[in-house]
Amino acid sequence: MAKLALEQVTREFDQVKAISDISFKVPNGEFWVLVGPSGCGKSTILRAIAGLEKITAGSIYIDDLLVNDIPARQRDVAMVFQNYALYPHLTVGENLAFGLKMRQVPSNVIREKVETIARSLSISHLLKRKPKQLSGGQQQRVALGRAIIREPKLFLLDEPLSNLDAQLREQTRTELKQLHQQLGITTIYVTHDQVEAMTLADQIIVLDRGQIQQIGTPQEIYNQPVNRMVATFIGSPPMNIIPATYQDDYLVLHNQRLLLTPQVLKSLQLQGREFFDLGIRPEHIHICNSSEDLATTNQLEVIIQLVEPLGHQTLIQATLAESQQIVNFYANSDWRGSRGDRQKVTVDLERLLIFPAAD
Ligand SMILES: Nc1ncnc2c1ncn2[C@@H]1O[C@H](COP(=O)(O)OP(=O)(O)OP(=O)(O)O)[C@@H](O)[C@H]1O
Ligand SMILES: [Mg+2]
Repeated sequence: MAKLALEQVTREFDQVKAISDISFKVPNGEFWVLVGPSGCGKSTILRAIAGLEKITAGSIYIDDLLVNDIPARQRDVAMVFQNYALYPHLTVGENLAFGLKMRQVPSNVIREKVETIARSLSISHLLKRKPKQLSGGQQQRVALGRAIIREPKLFLLDEPLSNLDAQLREQTRTELKQLHQQLGITTIYVTHDQVEAMTLADQIIVLDRGQIQQIGTPQEIYNQPVNRMVATFIGSPPMNIIPATYQDDYLVLHNQRLLLTPQVLKSLQLQGREFFDLGIRPEHIHICNSSEDLATTNQLEVIIQLVEPLGHQTLIQATLAESQQIVNFYANSDWRGSRGDRQKVTVDLERLLIFPAAD
């Protein structure tokens, strides 16, 4: 276990900054997740921490020790890549034991550790098999086990579940979380799967184009995104972004109006802005169905475009009436409506977010 700190780390390739001015501090034993779109610099950060990538500027500390010039193998860091490689001629058990054997750990200790890790990852029954006799998912779990078994100071995982099918992905995600709770190894996990980020992380770092956009707990990132990139990257379907203006206590969205209470107006912090974009999560828009709802001044009219039953609820894509503006929201699974219907909806005004208008 160790703590980790990056200070203003930059990596340039041919004068192009792959990552720029990256700073964060991970306390001992925490599980942090790096998310962002393809090419935003996630792997570059992991490789820099592991010592596989020289950095152009900045400092990396593992347990307060500056490691910039310490070679990878002396950093006591284990990394699992998306394209892991097992030793094909060794059994699963031997693959797991390999690193410990190299370190001359006594064989009874090795046996015990192999059994424990294998149990945690549900691969106990595979210990005598060779890698080619395993499914992709089983191989991936062996690779995770092999990296974690020597209990490194830092555990770095670069999209380790991306080769798995959806069900196995979910199962392995849960196992990883349990494993982390048992072992408490400081972990940095890279993914572009936001569900993985939300479910696994103590803290999430959202990256875009080589720069940190926001660091926060999953709840902070989801509920208080600092900008439009974070707001629309996390959440599926993404947050609705709707151009709006403010006039005489009303928000005006494509000729429809929402009356703002003084409290909501204050919390929105419009700061004299006339044009801006409203952010509304799909779950904060609701079908009006009671007379109470219908009496409020807080409603919009939409035209249903697409109805997607999800089982426990129904996802609806609609357009704001008399506009092309698409909005996504949910209805209860017993809601009946179809394409072309006009529908009144209400909005949780206190959950609205404001972003500067797009260029
Ligand atoms: N060896 C290299 N030479 C030149 N450019 C590179 C090199 N390695 C990475 N880059 C560039 O640095 C940027 C960040 O790459 P990186 O691999 O860190 O992205 P990523 O976030 O891991 O993406 P992905 O989700 O696709 O794996 C990209 O624009 C990439 O093209
Ligand atoms: Mg990558």
